Amino acid sequence: MVDIHHHLLWGLDDGSKDIETSVAMVKASAEDGVTHIVCTPHANGTYDFVPEANAAKVAELHERLVAEGVTMNIGLGCDFHLSYDNILAAKEDPSRFSVNGLGYLMVEIPDYGVPRGLTETFYELQLVGLTPILTHPERNPTIQNDLPRLAEWMRGGVLLQVTGDSVTGRMGKTAQRIAHELLAKRWVHFLATDAHNVSSRPPRLSEARDAVAKKYGEEYAESLVTTNPLAVFTGKPFEAVEEPIDLYEEYKEKNWFSRIFTRG
Ligand SMILES: [Fe+2]
Repeated sequence: MVDIHHHLLWGLDDGSKDIETSVAMVKASAEDGVTHIVCTPHANGTYDFVPEANAAKVAELHERLVAEGVTMNIGLGCDFHLSYDNILAAKEDPSRFSVNGLGYLMVEIPDYGVPRGLTETFYELQLVGLTPILTHPERNPTIQNDLPRLAEWMRGGVLLQVTGDSVTGRMGKTAQRIAHELLAKRWVHFLATDAHNVSSRPPRLSEARDAVAKKYGEEYAESLVTTNPLAVFTGKPFEAVEEPIDLYEEYKEKNWFSRIFTRG
């Protein structure tokens, strides 16, 4: 499996606190069946985001893992917050924030007060070659009450990542209900751990993968944890294994052509 959302690098944000914790997190991931991890430290007003320093940490971690005989492919991206400064910087240098500099961008939106102009912001990011992946919408209180906004972004090409622990109910009942609503519609493209440590928020993905396989089918589950996220890791396009349900219908109804042809 490929985990594209993981606060693995130590001392940068509210994720891992030291290199020992990071090594333990990698070992836990490997035991769970993960072969690739994308480090996604927060890039926001609270935490400095310096890609060069992050890359140096990846190299240091890699050395430690080799010494301990642990195999893991480690990539680098960020948990991109939609601040004015970040958006400007991403437009100037799109590879700076994207996963392995290859175009997919993990985007987190604020819990409350989601700005109205986000559809345009996503479009502007796409114009410079970035593919936004919205992280854990099922945990966002604004989105939980406004799935049509999510649909609007998705019609524009935004992809969705749901947290594995939301699927299994570890993130609360509402997040679980929304996660399953999205999965049932096949709107989800990725499952990821959003791991922060080895205790309260450990890297746990197989449990969610198995739950999705049981309820929605093996093929869909596999695409969410392996095929699709591997395309992100390597910067390649991918095709959803199943068509999204109820995503374009509402849009079609607004179209004059379909209105004429659905009359009596
Ligand atoms: Fe995160």
